Amino acid sequence: MTGDRSDVLVLFGATGDLAWRKIFPSLYVMVARGTLTEPVIGVALEDWDIARLVARARSGIEAARGSVDEATFAKLAGLLRYVSGDYRDQQTFDKLRQALSGHRHPLYYLAVPPSMFEPVVQGLEQSGGARGARLMVEKPFGRDLQSARWLNRVLHMVFDEDSIFRIDHYLGKEAIQNLLYFRFANSFLEPLWNRNFIDSVQITMAEDIGVEGRGRFYDEVGCIRDVIENHLLNIMLLLAMEPPSGRSVDDLIDEKVQVLKAIRTLRPEDVVRGQFEGYLREPGVAADSTRETFAAVRFMIDTWRWQGVPFYVRAGKKLPVRATEVRVRFKRPPLAIFDGFEPEQANYLRFRIAPVVAIGIGARRKVAGDAMVGEQVELSALDGDTADEMEPYERLIGDAMNGNTQLFTREDASEIAWRIVAPVLDDKSAPALYKPGTWGPEEAMAGFGPAHGWADPCA
Ligand code: NDP
Ligand code: BG6
Repeated sequence: MTGDRSDVLVLFGATGDLAWRKIFPSLYVMVARGTLTEPVIGVALEDWDIARLVARARSGIEAARGSVDEATFAKLAGLLRYVSGDYRDQQTFDKLRQALSGHRHPLYYLAVPPSMFEPVVQGLEQSGGARGARLMVEKPFGRDLQSARWLNRVLHMVFDEDSIFRIDHYLGKEAIQNLLYFRFANSFLEPLWNRNFIDSVQITMAEDIGVEGRGRFYDEVGCIRDVIENHLLNIMLLLAMEPPSGRSVDDLIDEKVQVLKAIRTLRPEDVVRGQFEGYLREPGVAADSTRETFAAVRFMIDTWRWQGVPFYVRAGKKLPVRATEVRVRFKRPPLAIFDGFEPEQANYLRFRIAPVVAIGIGARRKVAGDAMVGEQVELSALDGDTADEMEPYERLIGDAMNGNTQLFTREDASEIAWRIVAPVLDDKSAPALYKPGTWGPEEAMAGFGPAHGWADPCA
């Protein structure tokens, strides 16, 4: 494939939940901004006509945005086409080939279950549709190291690595881009950004929703596979990586892979698993399921920079809030010169990723008056104006159309991440229960976490 922009987007899974929830709303925004003018061909099993697909796209956009601008929607509707058929049937790909006539550089977006990757890739190859094409694949990329290796082999039978775009939509988020920017565009951080000054790092990804009709999917994966092995590990890499030595896409990705290689493989004692009360009654969930809907994990990174600094990560469904944030805690001053400085108070850097984008620096200042008494304040380095923010899928689809691989997961990274979590993936022991609306299983979490406790992302 040349560096040309893809001239058509083919959306496998066009009738699915992800397409409805995220992809159509992002395509709509791209049309509104003028960054998508190419046709979009949906391919799925449902025997729909184009009107049905257009109606489905509209309902997804309305649900995501509250309303649609008719002129913009008409432009998007004008780009949509639909091909129905089973991915296990070669005729589907022959029909698609006809629909593609005249287009030489398709981007195939596989928003389908991973079990469908192989038939789709083979079907594309056999129909002659893989030549000059790019392939974007959704997460989860496999379910363990072995299956990720197998998937990579399957994709590489037909596509070069440069033409494969493995999605982690967190890498397309504005706040995550900002984290990378803030780290390497500010010289004051670098001297402090190591084990000499940093005490611990914690990352919280809390969701107040449950499994929202995705019980069958969720019960096969659980929290560690769903968000820790990919989204949260990726955030950790941006925090822990060395500055890239050049500006090429591979320079950045090479540094992330160096960190991945240095992260210790987890042991059972590095993890606390929880399940919210009521999970077993969710549609699609096995009545005796031992899947975790909450996990807290301690990662250690064996590098010169991070030796001995714990990276604590916690994520879960049905927690008190929806909030994702990183908190980097600095060590306290070596001597306590002033009173009233509680042990849990220290400098910190806070990257707020959701629901708003913000960067804050926790510092001490003196309270006005006679006494040398201080208080903890947070200096806001950035408080996001979200007006021009790009949706992650908008950015990532645009990048894949343009052949820019920087925000996608490279083959080696897609495999190493599974090595790290492998021993704790399919723990069959019963997870500790927690009440919906709480911070996970209280008893099991007692004593597990940063020495000075988990920070409250609501505060
Ligand atoms: P759904 O089950 O809702 O959709 C699956 C899609 O694949 C449907 O369009 C379905 O078509 C199509 N499909 C499945 N099997 C076949 C087949 N044999 N032949 C033709 N079409 C087929 O899944 P999601 O949209 O939720 O997820 C898709 C991918 O995206 C998964 O890998 C998931 O992990 C990932 N993902 C999903 C997220 C979400 O929020 N939903 C978030 C992040 C990633 P039809 O409806 O016509 O049967
Ligand atoms: C998806 C997970 O990858 O990310 C979901 O499969 C989760 O379970 C979602 O809800 C969270 O994404 P965001 O962008 O809303 O934080």
